[in-house]
Amino acid sequence: MTESAGTPENVSRRRFLTKVGMTGGAAALYGSLGALGLVATPANAETVRFVPPTSTDLAATSRRKKVAILGAGTAGLTIAYELGKAGYDCHLIEARGRPGGRAWTVRGGDKHTDTDGVTQVAKYDKGQYFNAGPSRIPSHHVTLDYCRELDVAVEPMINANAQGFYYNENTPTTDFGPLASTRITHRQAKADAYGYIAEILATVANQGALNSLMSAADVERVVAFANSFGGLSGGKYLGNNRRGYNTPPGAGDQPGTVAGPPPSMSAVLQNQLGDRFAFEFGFDQAMMMWQPVGGMDRISAALADAVGKHRITYNAEVTQFDNTAQGVRIAYRRNGKLQRLDADYAVVTIPPMVLKTIPSNLSTATKDALTVPVGSNTGRMGIQFKRRFWEQDFKIFGGVTHTNLDVSGIYYPSFGYMSRKGVVVGYYSGAYTNLSVADRVTRAVEQGVKIHGEVYREEYQNSFSVAWPKVPYSLGGWVQWPGGRGAAYLHLLQPDGNIYFAGDHLSYYTAWQNGAFLSARKVVMDLHQRVTSTN
Ligand code: ALA
Repeated sequence: MTESAGTPENVSRRRFLTKVGMTGGAAALYGSLGALGLVATPANAETVRFVPPTSTDLAATSRRKKVAILGAGTAGLTIAYELGKAGYDCHLIEARGRPGGRAWTVRGGDKHTDTDGVTQVAKYDKGQYFNAGPSRIPSHHVTLDYCRELDVAVEPMINANAQGFYYNENTPTTDFGPLASTRITHRQAKADAYGYIAEILATVANQGALNSLMSAADVERVVAFANSFGGLSGGKYLGNNRRGYNTPPGAGDQPGTVAGPPPSMSAVLQNQLGDRFAFEFGFDQAMMMWQPVGGMDRISAALADAVGKHRITYNAEVTQFDNTAQGVRIAYRRNGKLQRLDADYAVVTIPPMVLKTIPSNLSTATKDALTVPVGSNTGRMGIQFKRRFWEQDFKIFGGVTHTNLDVSGIYYPSFGYMSRKGVVVGYYSGAYTNLSVADRVTRAVEQGVKIHGEVYREEYQNSFSVAWPKVPYSLGGWVQWPGGRGAAYLHLLQPDGNIYFAGDHLSYYTAWQNGAFLSARKVVMDLHQRVTSTN
């Protein structure tokens, strides 16, 4: 398998863009970027500013202020939190026994049963945890504003590290050349790929190939840039200490020996190392990245606290929801008993893959729209190791190893540095979903051994794996809109009678808590506008 399904690296999107760029030129590429929501176009250039509802607005209205919110994930909690600040009477119905939905942090003792009946109990030591869902927050996401407002402490999440590895293994269709099945640090891969690309640039510039494109002064600037960017000597890339050292520099008469010589230009190109660099340039993946101290679920826990326990009913599975002449009626099952909640409005944050199976009197158009999105196949494994060998043996403190092995990525923990044990994300991939829990372990460890050596097997202690398509009430890691955000997406942005829809799937930030926050805010404003203009 060359690329695992359900990886975050947007490889297929990048390939798609490369293809469009090759066949359609810059204008086509730009249009496609806009369509994917990657650059501002006239259609999405303006961000709607969030104007929170206030109790003053609400005081001017006389009724219709009770809101049932289905799902206490990030979107549902945010709706209750923001509407609650203004005095709305919000009630959250949550199928799980905890808040947060996919923002799920697994700790020792946690028990989970998949839709296929398979149960796992996490055996992590106290203080260890595994973020099975969201695990990183870019600096520009509104998620951080909520952390600030709710007093959730954050710490850096290391999403790129010069000491992490790249590792490509030959596949039936791709020969990665002499560097196949070799672990290569990010620092070496970058030194070599940047070095050789810079050498090519300097060479063609010096041969006059750029003269028809730019002025002589600009050609000189390109050459100067290439020399600095590639660390060239006399216009050639010969390796340099950006690659690291075989013998480190020391005191006195020990200048050190630079690691080298570098592999040939052809070997570097054939290993396609440079193709993986784009991940860390991504708008949503570039450092600085953040994580809440103690686990991603600290955000939903803080939101749930702010909303108030009395407003959240856990272990309550919605069995039906309907528009009524007065508002909405929700039926749910709790402790085997059917219960009812009447409200003026409902906001449904249950993922469409789950929602479409729950009876309701939604319009046919809405029901049809709910059948369009599909759950993405992705999963992760958090492996507790007895010893932080990645730190002690490899000097890797946080960051990611990227590979074409089916684990896709190995994520080293961004907390607990220098301590004894740690939880590493052993895969982030859809390739493990249909394996038994035991087979997932065997396979993930085998793949880790290829990169890190036998230490990966020797230090393995225990693990917990999540296969998102099999997680009840989620049925997917995130939502995909086949064919893009078309009519079904647009339809669900509107209420169906008194029932609104929210979630990261109704944003251009699918698979980010930021999307859940933004979608929640949009619905809060839509609903509040309706309430204040109709009373
Ligand atoms: N937001 C998800 C990630 O960063 C897709 O992995």
